Amino acid sequence: MTGVNQSQSVIPTVTQRVLLIIGGGIAAYKSLDLIRRLRERGATVRVVLTRAAQEFVTPLAAGALSNERVFTDLFDLDDEREIGHIRLARDTDLIIVAPATADLLAKMATGQANDLATAVLLATDKPVLAAPAMNPRMWSHPATRRNVRQLEADGIHFIGPNVGEMAERGEAGVGRMAEALEIAQAAAHVLGGPQSAPAGPLSGRHVVITSGPTHEPIDPVRYIANRSSGKQGHAIAAAAAAAGARVTLVSGPVTLADPPGVAVIKVETAAEMLAAVQTALPADIAIFAAAVADWRVTTSANQKIKKTKGSDVPTLTLAENPDILMSVAKRGPRRPALVIGFAAETEAVVPHAQKKRKEKSADWIVANDVSPASDTFGGDWNTVHLVTAEGVTSWPPQSKDDVARRLVEQAGAWLAAHQTEI
Ligand code: CTP
Repeated sequence: MTGVNQSQSVIPTVTQRVLLIIGGGIAAYKSLDLIRRLRERGATVRVVLTRAAQEFVTPLAAGALSNERVFTDLFDLDDEREIGHIRLARDTDLIIVAPATADLLAKMATGQANDLATAVLLATDKPVLAAPAMNPRMWSHPATRRNVRQLEADGIHFIGPNVGEMAERGEAGVGRMAEALEIAQAAAHVLGGPQSAPAGPLSGRHVVITSGPTHEPIDPVRYIANRSSGKQGHAIAAAAAAAGARVTLVSGPVTLADPPGVAVIKVETAAEMLAAVQTALPADIAIFAAAVADWRVTTSANQKIKKTKGSDVPTLTLAENPDILMSVAKRGPRRPALVIGFAAETEAVVPHAQKKRKEKSADWIVANDVSPASDTFGGDWNTVHLVTAEGVTSWPPQSKDDVARRLVEQAGAWLAAHQTEI
């Protein structure tokens, strides 16, 4: 399951006009909360409900929460006379589509305009933020992948989807709509920030980064974890975005704020991290900074495991987690041009890193000493050695931000020299 991390409670104010298009999906109920969140932050919210959305939420509820009238049908002549769909599309500062269903995304990608929502989306000259929500198989289907790529190329902003349980029983994966607070934060970013990534050495490139620890559940309240803070991975994401890249950050549970201008997919387990990375590809560069838990409990308990007086302590049976770096580095034709792994070592740092580079088919390994004396896990400084096929370069101790900038700079130079395209 994913959640909103605590640092996100500090959300920039959204004082402009927002047109919220609610699509037809079970996640529509979260969009009612989104109306409230946006208004709390000072936004004026107008709502368009698609026909399918009205199966999940009522115009009455949306109207009561937005304190505005709700628009539902392209051919309502009264609406058209009072405020036509063209004005609706233009009299706003931002359009949010939440939930953006597979069907709505397909219509947007092909420029259809056969109802009010799609007509508004085709007529607008304002930024559009989409919060997709659908079954994981629909999200990973080549048709949806194609539509999302097209929409990104058209300048549509995306938030989520996250990894988690679906409404359908037993279904889990990437497809759950971002939480209302996450969408409100992304809206503030789109409204406040530049509409496109800054120009830089990584302009036009896609970089996928993993960061933080993973949590492997033992039961609903306990889990296996490690001491990773996510500081290094998040700093790399920020540096790559600042260098002009489109960045997808797949983050385990951390208490850090989302780096600006970065699409963040929040996950908990290694299996969820692997699924999120696979859907984020293709990419030019993939950087695996996450401290993925090596093992998970074979079957986590559905209920809290209780102590029973006089009985034995429970035995946990562990299974090895998939190796995310290795599965991406050993991909066939769609392998990212540059695959960079990290090696967290407490002894023989460089030899272990060299072995890992070969075994996992990574191009580069950033080796760091995580022995207790090094203060690397959780700290702000890092001492690393860059291990490549050509040799080893030991960098002087520096802040994690500086390590991130230097790594991104070198990755950009490598790509430019190899002139690769995805
Ligand atoms: N990694 C991964 N998936 C895993 C384990 C590791 O993607 N299941 C990646 C890490 O993100 C890192 C690299 O592999 O980029 C090396 O991780 P590290 O924890 O140093 O090594 P392990 O492969 O876990 O080996 P060991 O714990 O034996 O040192």
